[in-house]
Amino acid sequence: MSRLVVVSNRVLDLGKAARAGGVAVTLADIVRTRKALWFGWNGEIEPAGQVDAVGREGRIATAPLSDIEYAGYYVGYANSVLWPVFHNRLDLAQFEARFFERFVDVNRRLTGLLQPMLRPDDVIWVHDYHLIPFAAELRKRGVGNPIGFFLHIPFPPWQTFMAVPEHKELARALAAYDLIGLQTTADVANLMNYMMSALHGRIVPDGRIRLFDQLVSVASFPIGIDPTNFAKAKRASDLVQARSSVSRVVGVDRLDYTKGLPHKFKAFGRLLDKYPQYQRQVVLTQIAPPTRETVEAYSDIRHELESLAGSINGRLGELDWVPIHYIYRSMPRRRLGDIYRSSQICMVTPLRDGMNLIAKEYVAAQDAADPGVLILSQFAGAAEEMSEALIVNPYNIEETAEALRSALEMDLTERRARHGALLQGVYKRDAAAWSQLFLEHLKRAGPYSASHEVA
Ligand code: F6P
Repeated sequence: MSRLVVVSNRVLDLGKAARAGGVAVTLADIVRTRKALWFGWNGEIEPAGQVDAVGREGRIATAPLSDIEYAGYYVGYANSVLWPVFHNRLDLAQFEARFFERFVDVNRRLTGLLQPMLRPDDVIWVHDYHLIPFAAELRKRGVGNPIGFFLHIPFPPWQTFMAVPEHKELARALAAYDLIGLQTTADVANLMNYMMSALHGRIVPDGRIRLFDQLVSVASFPIGIDPTNFAKAKRASDLVQARSSVSRVVGVDRLDYTKGLPHKFKAFGRLLDKYPQYQRQVVLTQIAPPTRETVEAYSDIRHELESLAGSINGRLGELDWVPIHYIYRSMPRRRLGDIYRSSQICMVTPLRDGMNLIAKEYVAAQDAADPGVLILSQFAGAAEEMSEALIVNPYNIEETAEALRSALEMDLTERRARHGALLQGVYKRDAAAWSQLFLEHLKRAGPYSASHEVA
């Protein structure tokens, strides 16, 4: 069996207890359970000139970034250009030519560090938008191994993508992969439309796309979780409300402008205003760990939320009831499972999201005999496969408030039916099935020599 080389921006210490969800946790599970090497950034920022030593510990190999690289590659191109554009926020994108140069330079440098560790029969799986140029840089170094890419965030409509000044360079880099995996069929349609309409790509008889004289496969592989991690969740005694009639609505989102947190708070406030009978009967617990604080677009969101929560709590709260509990920290995974289990409703209402694994974790943590209700944004990738959730348009505050009311009123029979169907999907399309499907497809799509030496 060939070794799997996983490449991602973030790499976790396999020995340390995982914090709340996310892509790195899924990758850690994959690396733990097979012959693998995991390569990426170690999370450290060092002065330029001191970044070329690879730290190797068992299956993990990492390297630091220099401060200049961190600013141009991570803060700059990845999170001030690709992240906002891919989430349909062109207004927040900061197009600066030096960001792209740094982005490619870092990818090039990292491939140089990885190459000496590669073996001829390795299968390479690159993850996420930070590393789009990775395969092209490996190919330039003569690496012929099969290389797959998975984009964890959405792919935008093709005209939005074309606003990126370097969109053609990015497309050329994507074409160097044997397989591009996306979260949803809608993302696949967006990327294919772009390749066909903007770049005159064409589909060849075996289904691959011919682009820049390369052949590449594009398909959707919705990512899953390991539901067994949440199956043992318990109703936490410290979370049981003083009055047992009080219901908890939970939200767990990084403090990111894509997560629709102000909309969520407004919808919750609207529920309480429109249906005063729910006052003192329901609380919203929002866990929102701060993220990417060095990126400019993230600084305003915390103030906006604090002021919204403050105004709702101040206007409606009582001495023994605070409507919105707001926590700026991540939670250990086990604790998170107990919080999900102790919450009658989970609101996953991003304005745009690649998949959103919180939706799946919440379902996995429920008591099947008395499960809670998932409210899910139509703009989360998860909505494509979790249609038994209450699907909402998060921009529509009225509709979301009504969904909250339906969830609060939903009888046990309907809750069980919806949860049963959702849980089945979460188990069927779990993280192991996701990686297996992708890697089998990559085996069929590769090898590089066959697919790329097409005249
Ligand atoms: O796919 C989105 C992503 O890059 C994930 O890897 C991760 O869940 C999240 O964003 C974390 O972002 P960052 O690495 O910038 O903290």
